[in-house]
Amino acid sequence: MVVYTGSMSDAASKTFYLETFGCQMNAHDSEKVVGTLLAQGYRQVPTVEEAGLVLYNTCSIRDKAEQKVFNRLADYKKYRAQGKKFGVLGCVAQQEGERIFERAPYVSLVCGSASYRNLPQMLVQLETGSSRVTGLDDRMTDECFETEFAARTNPHRGYITIIEGCDKFCAYCVVPFTRGKERSRTSASVLEEARQLADLGYTEIQLLGQNVNSYRDPSGLKSFAELLVAVASVVGIRRVRFTTSHPRDFGRDIVEAIDAVPALCNHVHLPVQSGSTRVLDAMSRLYTRDEYLERISWIQAARRDISLTSDLIVGFPGETEREFEETLSLMDLVGYDSVFTFKYSPRPNTPALRLEDAIPEAEKARRLAVLNDRQKQIGTRRNQRHVGQIVEAMVEGKNAARGQWVGRTSQIKVLNFTVPAGVELAAGSYVDVRVTGCFPNSLVGELAV
Ligand code: SAH
Ligand code: SF4
Ligand code: F3S
Repeated sequence: MVVYTGSMSDAASKTFYLETFGCQMNAHDSEKVVGTLLAQGYRQVPTVEEAGLVLYNTCSIRDKAEQKVFNRLADYKKYRAQGKKFGVLGCVAQQEGERIFERAPYVSLVCGSASYRNLPQMLVQLETGSSRVTGLDDRMTDECFETEFAARTNPHRGYITIIEGCDKFCAYCVVPFTRGKERSRTSASVLEEARQLADLGYTEIQLLGQNVNSYRDPSGLKSFAELLVAVASVVGIRRVRFTTSHPRDFGRDIVEAIDAVPALCNHVHLPVQSGSTRVLDAMSRLYTRDEYLERISWIQAARRDISLTSDLIVGFPGETEREFEETLSLMDLVGYDSVFTFKYSPRPNTPALRLEDAIPEAEKARRLAVLNDRQKQIGTRRNQRHVGQIVEAMVEGKNAARGQWVGRTSQIKVLNFTVPAGVELAAGSYVDVRVTGCFPNSLVGELAV
């Protein structure tokens, strides 16, 4: 946590409010953006009303996410006369670029994530009265947003972005257009940050990247699996997670690392998107159903019980009922612990826009409901295998209303558990819990004493 150390007069005049949408990478970018602003003498305030500078870190992965931003921009109008400045950061900023100034003329900063390293200079431009400051690198930069300042919001789990951008260009996806080209940090700089986090008392590290396992160490020293092992070996670190893995780049060495090193969490998020090879090809996903299932078989052959989660899209243009059923049968075969499910949403710039045979909204909604229903059964079945086990949970907090504590297992499952009367637990501590029951998306238990 960075503590503000600027002078009072600075602090009073330079205030900002930041709201974040989107994925974990956006959330962590925001931690770094906040850290950068604090280091520039700004003070964070909890409401738009109190702020001199209002920032939105935006997401455009699906149409709904993007609309949220434009709804917020419409709200800006009423503050226009108060001299507040507005900035749009993140994926919508990069995607829409200077068009945002036309749509919302009261916005004076538009900056995509590939330009955050230039934020200090952009803030100076804003302060000296520039009304249209832009940072729109658009797949040009080779640099990552590395900053010593990050205002981390979770005191126990620290996020480290190891690879930025994406070069995969899946037919439906905006990310390659919004986050720039794929570029990795050196393993030395990642390990340095991991050590700093351990020194600050963090015990869990989550390594982030749009395709975290496409990591290529620019110094050539470590493969992704070797980096995982090195981070897990940092003294004080008890859990290491990584997300999101792309199936094409998922090697057996990752499973071997998880088997060998207990601090590597036994969970892999491996988005499949569709169970049909024809649809995967149309999506340009770079693997077939069988190749995906081969990777799953490596994971399932591990000595440790590795939980599996995924992302699934229904209603990609041209997806037939049979192809949709292939997704259902793949879910049955894999037996996911949980999945994130989405209706296909047409996005600007993407190749899938040119495809015919759009699936009607009502049909997408039907397929989504069928899929979610199926996962409920699979998730419950998967969770039942834990009933009777004693598992380690990292305590996240207390649910006062239910009188229960909430923890996470190494397999990233939510575990609600009771403790004997009078026992208080500390958030961030690790306890053993006996699992006594389960739901489709969570486990229940009691403290093992
Ligand atoms: N890089 C990761 C995922 C990043 S985006 C990967 O390749 O697996 C997170 C998820 O959003 C994707 O896995 C996909 O399921 C979903 N998604 C992306 N674009 C979408 C779109 N246009 N419509 C619906 N869902 C989409
Ligand atoms: Fe999007 Fe595909 Fe890149 Fe994932 S791999 S971020 S789905 S383009
Ligand atoms: Fe959204 Fe950008 Fe993340 S589009 S999901 S914020 S990479």
